[in-house]
Amino acid sequence: MTSADTTPAAPAARTLDDVPGWFFKADQELFDWFLTRQTQSGRTGDLMELGAYLGRSAILLGSHLQDGETFTVCDLFDSDAPDDDNSAEMAMSYRKTLTRQAFEDNYLAFHDRLPTVIQAPTSVLADGRIPDGSCRFIHIDASHLYEHVAGDIQVARAALAKDGLVALDDYRAEHTPGVSAAVWEAVFAHGLRPILLTPEKFYGTWGDPEEAQREVLGRDWAAEGFRMDEDTIAGARVYRLAHDEQPAPPAPRPAPPRRSASRRLALDVLPPFATRAARRALRAARARRTG
Ligand SMILES: C[S@@+](CC[C@H](N)C(=O)[O-])C[C@H]1O[C@@H](n2cnc3c(N)ncnc32)[C@H](O)[C@@H]1O
Repeated sequence: MTSADTTPAAPAARTLDDVPGWFFKADQELFDWFLTRQTQSGRTGDLMELGAYLGRSAILLGSHLQDGETFTVCDLFDSDAPDDDNSAEMAMSYRKTLTRQAFEDNYLAFHDRLPTVIQAPTSVLADGRIPDGSCRFIHIDASHLYEHVAGDIQVARAALAKDGLVALDDYRAEHTPGVSAAVWEAVFAHGLRPILLTPEKFYGTWGDPEEAQREVLGRDWAAEGFRMDEDTIAGARVYRLAHDEQPAPPAPRPAPPRRSASRRLALDVLPPFATRAARRALRAARARRTG
């Protein structure tokens, strides 16, 4: 008989902030806003996420799942990557912390049931297992290498319903030029139409972007501390939304070491060169006392 594992279980996550990941304020609010508006307007359809990590964005997506809809999550979790570059990406960013079990534990801390989990490279989704036109919202956040993202965008294009929305992570980050290449290629060569940009994500559709833009403009973002700007790209209007984090309050300063009254006075009132001389004198006096 083996002895019981006495390793204490990690405490269950209680808020999204307890779940490690890269899913920040502006995007949390936008996912919430778009998905709520879809439901309120009677639109139904499946949800899908490519690249879930420990569940931070999946947990929010799952909270918008309606009866009769399916939420599919595809991630390698602890499986091997399909090529060397993807392996290196996994080793650098995710391997130390990511297991399917950890994802499932986090997800089940917020929801009663798991989504449909496909533990595999996202390239398997091109085999037609996701019905064409079935999804209303897809989040692409798996490999950040060009070849993978370009494939993921084609999967999303087939899976999205008319006017369905796609959110693409890291479309402009310094370390992910392959995502930028794949996203703008999709815009200029494959009909993807930008709706809105945040510092982290590109939101687009193969349907009518203006309808989604009207949805976004239906909220007073400025009143909630967001910045909304407008741009034009190749003749198409695009919005930009950002949320400036409040700077963290400065950490309390450590209490200074206790000094004798005479030393405190000398250091407080004397000019720097005199203070140095006073320090020398104090050191000499201390040496005489202990010598
Ligand atoms: C940036 S993380 C996802 C972050 C998550 N969406 C969040 O907001 O916290 C990228 C994820 O993609 C997964 N991944 C990387 N390459 C993949 C591939 N080829 N197929 C499927 N998943 C992959 C990694 O295992 C990792 O969990």
